[in-house]
Amino acid sequence: MKNIILIGFMGVGKGSVAREVIKHSNYIAIDTDDLIESMENRKIKTIFEEEGEAYFRKLEKEISLWLEKSVKDTLISTGGGFYKVKNLKKIGTIVLLDSPFDEIIKRIQAHPNAAKKLKKRPLLTDLEKAKELYKERRPEYLALADIVIDVTNKSAQECAKELLKKVKKHA
Ligand code: S3P
Repeated sequence: MKNIILIGFMGVGKGSVAREVIKHSNYIAIDTDDLIESMENRKIKTIFEEEGEAYFRKLEKEISLWLEKSVKDTLISTGGGFYKVKNLKKIGTIVLLDSPFDEIIKRIQAHPNAAKKLKKRPLLTDLEKAKELYKERRPEYLALADIVIDVTNKSAQECAKELLKKVKKHA
């Protein structure tokens, strides 16, 4: 089994879809933000505050080299900016979770833990800036993706099933 790399904008549901995929397959799952938080023993938000974004991007790059070399049969969910690492294609099949910006924000705001979800993401504190970032990134996400899943109005479970079906076809 080739690795699957889940990419997509903040809040699009990468974590929730990953949790559903592992319920319905033999993949194990890891998350690049979780790896960074354990490496650093501090939260992403604190890393941004204490070291700045460039330092965080350097950690993502280190993680990407380790993933390419050492990780197999795994579903890798990534932070929204991880796709910029140079070796993404070498890590596995790239799956984009796609949704319009307004739908992503609606989805976060409808979540019972909305405040927490917004607070832990430094690049989502200013929604105007986040929208600009979305506009800049979306074509880049699409250009990299082997598989695209439109998550709009679908449950995480539906997205996971679609993902597994498309990955099987793609193999
Ligand atoms: C980021 C997305 C975050 C996290 C960091 C930076 C980004 O992950 O990696 O705050 O640049 O889009 P999520 O996509 O899981 O929110």
